[in-house]
Amino acid sequence: MTDLTTKLSTLSAAEKRSLLKQLIKKKTSAVATSTNDKDNDDIPLAYYDFSHSPQYRNLEQMIAGIKTKGGVVDPYFKVREGVNSNTVVINSREVINYSSYNYLGFAQDPDVCLATKEAIERYGTSVSASRLLSGEIPIHRELEQEIASLIGVEDAIVFTAGHATNESTIGHLFDKNDLILHDELIHNSIIQGCLLSGSTRISFPHNDWQTVDQILTEQRRRYKRILIVIEGVYSMDGDIPDLPKFIEIKKRHKGFLMVDEAHSMGVIGDRGRGIAEYYSDRINPTDVDLWMGTISKSFASCGGYIAGCQAVVRYLKYTAPAFVYSAGMSPGNTAAALASIRKLKAEPERVQSLHERAKLFLQLASDRGLNTGMSKHSAVIPVIVGNSVRCIQLSQAVFNRGINVMPQIYPAVEDKAARLRFFINFNHTPEQIHFTVNAVAEELAQI
Ligand SMILES: Cc1ncc(COP(=O)(O)O)c(C=O)c1O
Repeated sequence: MTDLTTKLSTLSAAEKRSLLKQLIKKKTSAVATSTNDKDNDDIPLAYYDFSHSPQYRNLEQMIAGIKTKGGVVDPYFKVREGVNSNTVVINSREVINYSSYNYLGFAQDPDVCLATKEAIERYGTSVSASRLLSGEIPIHRELEQEIASLIGVEDAIVFTAGHATNESTIGHLFDKNDLILHDELIHNSIIQGCLLSGSTRISFPHNDWQTVDQILTEQRRRYKRILIVIEGVYSMDGDIPDLPKFIEIKKRHKGFLMVDEAHSMGVIGDRGRGIAEYYSDRINPTDVDLWMGTISKSFASCGGYIAGCQAVVRYLKYTAPAFVYSAGMSPGNTAAALASIRKLKAEPERVQSLHERAKLFLQLASDRGLNTGMSKHSAVIPVIVGNSVRCIQLSQAVFNRGINVMPQIYPAVEDKAARLRFFINFNHTPEQIHFTVNAVAEELAQI
């Protein structure tokens, strides 16, 4: 605490007001004398006009570069019609689509849509308050209980965005006395949470639990708490970490482990119950302290969750800023996720079909000599092109042949790792997959 904060905490409200008034008076008269005889003409335009800021200029240059170097139209913000599924309509043309997180096809499922409409009729379009303060509806708790039971832990809390779930949870639970170790390929939302927490942050080489173990052996005792953060399926590469090893390490060093299941929940494990099910013969779900997932992907909605022990969920419900000071999840979003999870439980065979589709894509890609990197057992499959400009050109070439897939280029990944990223979903047909892999291989050979 600074001297001023220490002093303020000992004063009454009236004394605080008077002290602050004096300080403000002193500050403003100092500013007034220092700027009195200047007219501010020397303050650069970039400091008070966004269109002249270096950040904005860089962005415009980057977009212009994509268009001219790639010789193509801007691949971002393409407007589509209809549901984001195995096909989409863009510019009145139907194309095969690989840019959707709608892994299990629930976003257009009649039962999910009906449950959503019924929830809106019953509760309206918004809960119009923070859940803590009159925003709570019964389906919020039902959703949280379904999520907890899906994973096999005590309880869960849902937030209105996956990104905010990570940022607020990590930023709120950890502080400057703590150490956070995260995989180098971790999602931006985790990094933002680490920055907010003020903890010491170390990014370790991808999947390298040996390095984590070594760092903790050397540094554990310098910190109060330690947190290790990994993903269930990595969102750029589609690979799965060695969860049992990370659990063993976090236990030995007496720390916490967080797993982001944005791309593993609903997708991996025989019944789509995520990485806990994938390793069910070797781990116990309660070995992970913070299970994080999004409901914007397999669960056809918008939002995120933290599942774990009752204490952590209860603490977050009463104190996490993105939960307490934010309106609760809308009835429609809550009902869509709830209906999707119930449907996943009732129809696990959907997951088997998804696995078959992804396996087929990987097999055909390997037969055609395409580089799919580390992808295995998941629905995220990159085709690594190895150069940002060629990657944009390839995405444009396959778009012309009726396939929508997004390029991932520098700075999202290193230039040499530039790739097309395919999200496979339950509704893709074998014919669509055969057609796609052939088209990609042919176009790649041309550019
Ligand atoms: C690994 C990971 N975590 C968190 C998020 C954020 O989730 P949401 O899009 O639901 O905000 C994403 C988004 O794609 C993600 O890939």
